[in-house]
Amino acid sequence: MTARAIVLVFCALGVVVQGWAQNTDREPPFVTTPMQVVGRMLSLAQTDGEDLVMDLGSGDGRIVIAAAKTYGAHGVGVELDPDLVAAARVNARRVGVEQLTRFVNADVLKTDLSGASVVTAYLLPWLMDALQPKFLAELAPGTRIVSHAFPMSGWEPDETESIRLTGAYEGRTATIYYWVVPAQARGSWRAVQPEGDWRLEIGQNFQQIDVRGAIDDKPFRAPNARLRGVDIEWNSDAGRFSGRVESSRIVGTLTAGGAKRTIEFTRQE
Ligand SMILES: C[S@@+](CC[C@H](N)C(=O)[O-])C[C@H]1O[C@@H](n2cnc3c(N)ncnc32)[C@H](O)[C@@H]1O
Repeated sequence: MTARAIVLVFCALGVVVQGWAQNTDREPPFVTTPMQVVGRMLSLAQTDGEDLVMDLGSGDGRIVIAAAKTYGAHGVGVELDPDLVAAARVNARRVGVEQLTRFVNADVLKTDLSGASVVTAYLLPWLMDALQPKFLAELAPGTRIVSHAFPMSGWEPDETESIRLTGAYEGRTATIYYWVVPAQARGSWRAVQPEGDWRLEIGQNFQQIDVRGAIDDKPFRAPNARLRGVDIEWNSDAGRFSGRVESSRIVGTLTAGGAKRTIEFTRQE
């Protein structure tokens, strides 16, 4: 995204960003996500009372507070500006969710993200890109990430949604991007079954996978294989498989010739 486009995104929400075009690596300023967009970010992520929602650059705390108030989710807001951290704590207390929420004065790039099951952000493209390796290294497969306005380079979103804003923002549109952290499915896998020796070679680019298999050296293709978080599925001449990727095994149900059975692939070195 160009510097001019970035200016337009923030200005479109009624904010004048001084000197923005000259310095695209600056810290994201404090601009609030409209509550309508907050609501959709949390519902798109299928937030519920079991979640730990972490808002990166939490500003006045609104996303974490909304997650606690609406879904009973626990939440952590990470914010560089100590005054905003203090304001977020006051806001949480005001609506009675201080037991569920925590606001920390820290840099998101130096914060351990593990433990979050939903991550939200309204930052800037360079910061989303800087966070990308942390997302992949620290977040468990299946963790949902929702970003208001800015995508990440290279990692296609699982979903992109445009929202027509209403009320004070009438006539404007917000975009949200949604990713599910993919399990590591890349590699060679094997299952010894009654009908033969199954071998799989899985290629992977983020959540995009390419599954090639063989049973006793007789190859099959699975052109529409899909990975979302830990859930994997594919269709092939050898049947339909639906299962889960764990670190060293893929286990699930094979449906072939009208019969279902469990099949477990183990990772090969
Ligand atoms: C665009 S505002 C979003 C506020 C809130 N998340 C929302 O959506 O309404 C971005 C916030 O990120 C904070 N911020 C910027 N860089 C940060 C960093 N490296 N670590 C933590 N917070 C940061 C800013 O102070 C600002 O409050």
